[in-house]
Amino acid sequence: MTSPQLAGSTAVVTGASRGFGLAVAAELVRQGARVAGVARDGTRLAAAAAELGAGFTPVAADAADPVVAGQLIDTYQPGLIILAAGVPPLSRPLHQHSWQSFSRVWDVDVQQVFHWTREALLRPLAPGSSVIAFSSGAALFGSPLSGGYAGAKATIRFMTQYAAEESDRAGLGIRFVSVLPQLTPETELGAAAVAAYAARAGLDIPEFLASRGPSLTPEQTGKAVLDLATRTGHGAYLLAAAGLKELWSGPSTPIAWRSAA
Ligand SMILES: NC(=O)c1ccc[n+]([C@@H]2O[C@H](COP(=O)([O-])OP(=O)(O)OC[C@H]3O[C@@H](n4cnc5c(N)ncnc54)[C@H](OP(=O)(O)O)[C@@H]3O)[C@@H](O)[C@H]2O)c1
Repeated sequence: MTSPQLAGSTAVVTGASRGFGLAVAAELVRQGARVAGVARDGTRLAAAAAELGAGFTPVAADAADPVVAGQLIDTYQPGLIILAAGVPPLSRPLHQHSWQSFSRVWDVDVQQVFHWTREALLRPLAPGSSVIAFSSGAALFGSPLSGGYAGAKATIRFMTQYAAEESDRAGLGIRFVSVLPQLTPETELGAAAVAAYAARAGLDIPEFLASRGPSLTPEQTGKAVLDLATRTGHGAYLLAAAGLKELWSGPSTPIAWRSAA
């Protein structure tokens, strides 16, 4: 059954060519939303477009570029923005990082959330719009083989909370939510990290995964993010194979899904 709140609405999803972003875009299209899907590699985006059909518009762009957020918000006037683009961290212990490799996730993931959050508040998006940013469970538990990744993802969670406060102070009615998924081998980024942590523990990958319990899938993530998209209020949520767990939630705002476009 399609969601009446999502049918006919317009969403922008970054990182939409694979992994969690693709799964969220697929679920949104299934629910009748129009999705502008952003990633840098046009070939993989074209494959996603072929898979998802007419509801998906591929947009080859760098989501962390300072101008892209403003351009795409102006063009699509989305009622929902999902910030799932993320760069895979180099899997090495702290002292084997250079400053450049340590800080790469800040340059991409954090910068992306900064620009899109800023543009959402400045334009502003229509009341009832939502911005959902991918943080990580690493923001709570650390990630010792990923350089600055855990700190960057913790900052993304803080940024959504700060933006929620600004939205409420200005009476904008824009929701800000962060989602903190557990590590999973089922995406390219997650598979590289799982291989590194398994090697570090002296285990093969199946042994390592068996020690952690069921893995979160992209399909579960797509459904969980749509669940968050149709709720009211701000918040931060851990996401594991067992489902969503609320870490924080803020004042409620009314939902008005249909975009101005
Ligand atoms: N998988 C996990 O275990 C896990 C756990 C916790 C949190 N997360 C977070 O979840 C998010 C999605 O991760 P994933 O596992 O789905 O990763 P993934 O499978 O590697 O997909 C990453 C997506 O982001 C896009 N991307 C990367 N840099 C970009 C940029 N500058 N501009 C536009 N698009 C960009 C990639 O396309 P291009 O390279 O073509 O641009 C791709 O579509 C990330 O923020 C990640 O940190 C993942």
